[in-house]
Amino acid sequence: MNQLGKDAVRDVRFGLDEGIPSDWYQGRPAVSLYFDNLSTLFPLGEAFFMRSVQHYRDRIDDEALRAEVRVFHAQEAMHSREHAAYNRMLEARGIDVEALEVGVARLLRIPHRFGPLGPRVALCVTMSLEHWTAMLGHLVLSEDAMFDGADPRMAALWRWHSAEEVEHKGVAIDVYRAIGGRYPLRAVMMVVTSVVFWARVAQQQHRMMRWAGLSRDRAAWADLARFLVVEQRVFQRLGPHWLAWFRPGFHPWDRDDRPLLARWRTRWSADLPWQRAAPVQPA
Ligand SMILES: [Fe+2]
Ligand SMILES: [Fe+2]
Repeated sequence: MNQLGKDAVRDVRFGLDEGIPSDWYQGRPAVSLYFDNLSTLFPLGEAFFMRSVQHYRDRIDDEALRAEVRVFHAQEAMHSREHAAYNRMLEARGIDVEALEVGVARLLRIPHRFGPLGPRVALCVTMSLEHWTAMLGHLVLSEDAMFDGADPRMAALWRWHSAEEVEHKGVAIDVYRAIGGRYPLRAVMMVVTSVVFWARVAQQQHRMMRWAGLSRDRAAWADLARFLVVEQRVFQRLGPHWLAWFRPGFHPWDRDDRPLLARWRTRWSADLPWQRAAPVQPA
């Protein structure tokens, strides 16, 4: 069901540079920083996802799933590359991405404290975060107006990343099931991962707002709250899909996102003039 033909690996270069203003999202600095905040998590996070899934590649007998793992890997590698460029742009603006990454790296080492269970815990963390990226990606793709008035390169990057997260949303959990992964661990790890993830996002948002001189700016914080809670209703809308994870037979493709992806391909992927197909490296 994953939408991962070879054409799903798009070698897109957004050419982000200092020409993009810090309030690139509709002139709203706190909301711009929220997206920037997520960007700082991706290079290390996606490298972790790739390692977690790759760890089990020899235990996957199903050739179709092995092929999907290769495309998953290639897509995440492209995301990491473009978000690394994004983050270099942030550093040039005084956001200390390296300092943030020290903390992220520390968090991502925790699963390895679980000894022989470590790789399975890491895969569950990956699946949980992939569920979040797929849910957030769905939100982006279903709201055409979300990036109205935003810098067009940034809008294209976030839509592209969102679409590919939705395309490969079932891969990690398919691998988990293929290796005999069981329900209790994936349920517990979703709770733990969600709490740690959003606590980290909140903490980083505060630090980034401080670096931008906005941490005491009530209007900026109120604007961010308005964006998340009133305009996009992020938690209200994602709540039911988050809870769906806890159904024992749950699969991300229980929600059929093919129409949404088809719409992105016709409507938005033509906005990627830098696009060419990228080779898929063997996993
Ligand atoms: Fe990604
Ligand atoms: Fe992903």
